[in-house]
Amino acid sequence: QLRTKIPEGLLQLPGPRPLPIIGNVLELGGSPHLSLSAMTKRYGHVYQIQIGMRPVVVLSGAGTVRQALIKQGEDFASRPDLYSFQFINNGKSLAFSSDQAGVWRARRKLAMNALRSFSTLEGENPAYSCVLEEQISKEGIYLVERLQTVMDDSGSFDPFRHIVVSVANVICGMCFGRRYSHDNEELLSLVNMSDEFGQVVGSGNPADFIPFLRFLPNNSMKTFMDINDRFNNFIQKIVREHYESYDKNNIRDITDSLIDHCEDRKLDENSNVQVSDEKIVSIVNDLFGAGFDTISTALSWAVVYLVAHPEIQERLHQEIKETVGIERNPHLSERSRLPLLEAFIFELFRHSSFLPFTIPHCTTKDTSLNGYFIPKNTCVFINQYQVNHDPEVWKDPEIFMPERFLSADGTEVNKLEGEKVLIFGVGKRRCIGEAIGRAEVFLFLAILIQRLQFHKMPGQELDMTPQYGLTMKHKRCHLRATLRPREEN
Ligand code: HEM
Repeated sequence: QLRTKIPEGLLQLPGPRPLPIIGNVLELGGSPHLSLSAMTKRYGHVYQIQIGMRPVVVLSGAGTVRQALIKQGEDFASRPDLYSFQFINNGKSLAFSSDQAGVWRARRKLAMNALRSFSTLEGENPAYSCVLEEQISKEGIYLVERLQTVMDDSGSFDPFRHIVVSVANVICGMCFGRRYSHDNEELLSLVNMSDEFGQVVGSGNPADFIPFLRFLPNNSMKTFMDINDRFNNFIQKIVREHYESYDKNNIRDITDSLIDHCEDRKLDENSNVQVSDEKIVSIVNDLFGAGFDTISTALSWAVVYLVAHPEIQERLHQEIKETVGIERNPHLSERSRLPLLEAFIFELFRHSSFLPFTIPHCTTKDTSLNGYFIPKNTCVFINQYQVNHDPEVWKDPEIFMPERFLSADGTEVNKLEGEKVLIFGVGKRRCIGEAIGRAEVFLFLAILIQRLQFHKMPGQELDMTPQYGLTMKHKRCHLRATLRPREEN
């Protein structure tokens, strides 16, 4: 790869020396979040590696990441055209495709409006503050019952397996106006294969960067294509049914509202960007895909952390018992009255950093950062894991300690400290499901902790080593749950 000439006054990016053809793939290893964080110590907050033949700029440090994604947001707003991305949502993904800026912006706006209408707006049931609260509460209680049944039948449960169906049902409700049974084979086989999806799309997958690897037998890539096919077919079938029963005067869900938008053809009156019907309706693929895997990974980790820290689990239960009681459901509006739970969630996001890198970015033009020259079309990794484990910012970053987000007397959450945790990205590509994500993690957890107590299987050790991917999962495991007594004693 020929390096572009460096403009005067700017520096060439530092970084490890690449080998021919494979570049720095060996240094990347099986845990790129760790190896690339370690390289920060040597090369600083902006450095370049080469994956295969392709230069990749890696950004670390909260200040540098904010400078790039917020202050110079326009320069870093695009996505690279990686090989694996063309299979996601038939190459028409809002999150992964390298759509031109105008098209992406119009679709993003549509997606945000659709999400808002079907989540945080007031619903018809006055017992709940919004549709989202109603859906989560119902699925949460159903999940508790389900876990009890599974415990009665087999004496243990696999947390991800059950949580993912409950979480998928919430986003299914918003997107498609329906829910699925916990035994629905079609949904189960889809949502339980998300591990493989994340392993291929995670930052630094060699097949994305070393072209000849695409032609070698590659099982995970085959599985990846298969998941994408099945995922697209699953959604296409539902979308077809929506087209058939669509009624302009009764917009039932996000799919209907996107169809309605195509019918109106009034997309973004201020711009002359044309977006095809297919690119509008397929926004629902992105919302459904992004909406279940991230949140179920977070919740599943949360249960594992509760089991690993029984004393914290007890304090969390006490907090809910004293504030909400054990008879009625917790509400979204009670978040600030449950400071320990809020702190636990911040620490869960920080410590697990289960989205270690954002989706890869790409520069839209020649630019510079901290004095280093970065050419147009350079692939950029944002190392969220490093920001969340930076010893310059966090005391004992490897220790799981929710108290780091609490005031000394434990009665208040330090919101400013919480904002230092980077898990939803920042700037123009920032996650559009953040409010929903935070709400779901909070409310599902509050319900679970209120009603259940989680334990390890006797004699078994918990392995908390994450498996690397776009979302890092804990190893599949079996845990026990026991029902808390409902009446005060
Ligand atoms: C993008 C995290 C939940 C929809 C992202 C990105 C991250 C992220 C790190 C990439 C940011 C970047 O590239 O700089 C999370 C986490 C979640 C979550 C941690 C839950 C705990 C959701 C939900 C939805 C959603 C519930 C939708 C219902 C999206 C979309 C994008 C995105 C559409 C692409 C935005 C774009 O490229 O413009 N999310 N997310 N996410 N997220 Fe989320």
